[in-house]
Amino acid sequence: MHRRDLLRLATATVAATSLPRWSWSTTLAQRDLFPLGVASGSPSMDGFVLWTRLIDGPVPGTVPAETPRTTLPDTLTVRWEIAEDENFHHIVRAGQSQALAALGHAVHVEVSGLRPDRWYFYRFMHGDAVTPTARTRTAPAADAMPNRMRFAFASCQRWEQGHYAGYRHMLDEDLDLVLFLGDYIYEYAMPKKPPSYTLARTHTLPSAKTLDDFRDRYALYRTDEQLQAAHRACPWIITWDDHEVQNDYAGMTGTGADDIFLDRRNAGYQAFYENMPLRASALTHGLKGLGAPDGLRIYDRHAWGQLLRFHMLDTRQYRDRQACRPPESKLKSAVDPRECPEMLDPARSMLGADQERWAKQGLAQDAASAVRWSVVAQQTIFSLRNYKPIPEESYHSSTWDGYPACRQRLLDAVRDADVRNTVFLGGDIHQNYVSRVLSDFSNPQSPAIGSEFCGTSIASATSVPQRRAQEIADLNPHILLARSDKRGYSVAEVTPERWTTTLRVIDDVVQANSGISTLARFVIEDRVPGPQRA
Ligand SMILES: [Fe+2]
Repeated sequence: MHRRDLLRLATATVAATSLPRWSWSTTLAQRDLFPLGVASGSPSMDGFVLWTRLIDGPVPGTVPAETPRTTLPDTLTVRWEIAEDENFHHIVRAGQSQALAALGHAVHVEVSGLRPDRWYFYRFMHGDAVTPTARTRTAPAADAMPNRMRFAFASCQRWEQGHYAGYRHMLDEDLDLVLFLGDYIYEYAMPKKPPSYTLARTHTLPSAKTLDDFRDRYALYRTDEQLQAAHRACPWIITWDDHEVQNDYAGMTGTGADDIFLDRRNAGYQAFYENMPLRASALTHGLKGLGAPDGLRIYDRHAWGQLLRFHMLDTRQYRDRQACRPPESKLKSAVDPRECPEMLDPARSMLGADQERWAKQGLAQDAASAVRWSVVAQQTIFSLRNYKPIPEESYHSSTWDGYPACRQRLLDAVRDADVRNTVFLGGDIHQNYVSRVLSDFSNPQSPAIGSEFCGTSIASATSVPQRRAQEIADLNPHILLARSDKRGYSVAEVTPERWTTTLRVIDDVVQANSGISTLARFVIEDRVPGPQRA
């Protein structure tokens, strides 16, 4: 699949009309094929990616499973416009692109040649239908030092466990971008027995295994109005975790036979590409022909002038399997390394050799250049959590605690390069953790060389009671905050002198119109590693 097949640019002009929602009694050109909304992502200093995906008929998952499907033609032509103003008086780019059945009728438009550090407005059109107007922006020029940027980071939005009220509140945060750290979808069917959590809503989809299953899952999630609004507000930088494929998978290892798992992984990866505003280079560097088990290259760097650089890692696709993982069953989350020497094996990696090298090179580049804040953005909690009092040890096998040698190599890279400011961001555990990142977690006296904010979930539940989270914080003095009882997102405000993280938590995840409040705020001063409570 070549880039030129994905993008075909031409000019077009279109009159905006508004149409009623989908109805059988109309022709294709009269129907609104945009119930999944629009998105933008991967902002560079001269462009970004625009995304939409066409769908006809009721969105699967929102209707009974036996509802007949409507198939779209193999190729549909979609028009798009980018303007400097929201009334589209000053259109700077316009064109048309093909929505292909082979890519789930998704459209990815890669735009370049725009001015740095600017907001733009965009919309898509098909037939008489026009999407709502959305906003996106370019990053500042490479040599600029912006005096401020604000972004939110979020993860983990299991449909049935909560509404996405957090996204509505993000609209009031004056954000330049959203960083999404994984578990955009969950692959599960609805629970068969009444679950331990309060069901916020239901869907009618089976456990996702095939490409069509995963396409349906993304379509369901994208029907959420609050999620759509957050995508319309600013560009997103997005990575995955395990649930875009299968719970707790590691590299080529899932549960079930390996070949069946690889088919499932390929399906999940292709659907992720189709449904996210990713650049086509993720495909051409990864999947050699759709469906081949070559993966999808989603680790990447994103600069915001000289103020900060995101090093977005992929801790799922290339990791070694979890230490002492029983075959064909759930992994043991708490492992004593003395009973599991495999955990300490220096050959094991969370990133794979190529990505480890790439990450170290990037941190060294930051240190050698004028980058003020180096952001290691990845899926899960980075800092050590010993579940038992020293000298006893017990660690989660699927976070960085399960890969201590790999974590130490990354820490050594930060220390050896003398990176000016390093901030680790993560998700996965559905809890807020704020930590001082020590140069050597095996020595509690070692100095902090960075800061970590592991964010709670947008909607996904945790079974960890707050009493236990606080016990873990008390056992690990580098942990400054541990909260398992709140859902929400975090906002980082970054200036050349100071980084401020505000933990925003919603009142009630089962209420779509939930209110929000601030749980805590932490500040990092330039060249002073470690967060301070504000
Ligand atoms: Fe999750």
